[in-house]
Amino acid sequence: MASGRRACVTVLLCSLCCMTFAVILRTIDNDVWVNEFDSTELTCFIESTSTNSPRIEWKKVKNGVPSYVYFQNKISGDLENRALLIEPATLLIPNVSRSDSAMYRCEVAAIDDLKDFDEIRIRLAVRVKPVVPQCSVPSSVTAGHFTELRCKESQGYPLPHYQWFRDNEELPKDPKTSIRFYNSSYVMNAKTGSLKFRAVRKEDAGEYHCQARNDAGYENCAPQLMKVYDSEIEILVLKIAAGVMSFILLTAGLRLARKHICCSRRDQRENDYRVPPRDSGKDDVRADEGHFQHKPSFVV
Ligand SMILES: *[C@@H]1O[C@H](CO)[C@@H](O)[C@H](O)[C@H]1NC(C)=O
Ligand SMILES: *[C@@H]1O[C@H](CO)[C@@H](O)[C@H](O)[C@H]1NC(C)=O
Repeated sequence: MASGRRACVTVLLCSLCCMTFAVILRTIDNDVWVNEFDSTELTCFIESTSTNSPRIEWKKVKNGVPSYVYFQNKISGDLENRALLIEPATLLIPNVSRSDSAMYRCEVAAIDDLKDFDEIRIRLAVRVKPVVPQCSVPSSVTAGHFTELRCKESQGYPLPHYQWFRDNEELPKDPKTSIRFYNSSYVMNAKTGSLKFRAVRKEDAGEYHCQARNDAGYENCAPQLMKVYDSEIEILVLKIAAGVMSFILLTAGLRLARKHICCSRRDQRENDYRVPPRDSGKDDVRADEGHFQHKPSFVV
């Protein structure tokens, strides 16, 4: 009994002294998510200390490499001029950049405390809005053939999900769930951005665009037209027609150009012919001047 009571007293004393002579830190959130360009606070509260002005330091650990963020009462490193320390030891970043994603450590040393050091770790993850995705849509395909459309974005964090649209209408994840897309053979992969038609149909033709989206926002690529032809022969005929058309245009253009060159050359030649007579004309005028002097009445 007596030893039990003694143990009890010891525990009580110990917890009492721990409460008064130990530095203890606390945070609201040790896994902080924030959108790029927003403001964030990495909270670090000093729960207890008996030291008047404990030494506060913040470190950033990125890819295993630590660097100082707050040291000797100054913000330093790549957060210099971009962060503030607010009472008691919270780090405020008013305009978060994607490079701020890292593990942060608030460290407080309190020399007058029995337990004179404590630290807390906070992970900061910066969400980055996707940029406009790169989309590849074949302009003409043959009905019944395999066809793939691709969409890719490189900046978004967390990795964006992709959604395809046809004529501004969202494609359902599974075509079988929609009356309109029921007969379509596509498989859409929201993670990779691919849209694969096992056998494309004429009804699948239209203007396609894709959207990349994450929690920070979304972006769309410009719609691109995909035409579906009945057969390769049709495409071939169209290609030949286009070829013939461009050939006709080219020949016409060449003929026109030749005519132009020819005419301007003829103009030049005509000018050459005219040069001597013009000169002689001038001579005539000069000769006439002599006559005018003789017959001033002629001027009137
Ligand atoms: C935040 O920083 C970016 C550059 O990193 C800048 O373009 C933007 O204007 C800043 N936003 C605010 C509200 O200061
Ligand atoms: C799908 O195909 C079936 C049979 O070929 C047809 O009856 C039906 O109208 C088609 N549905 C659509 C939405 O095209």
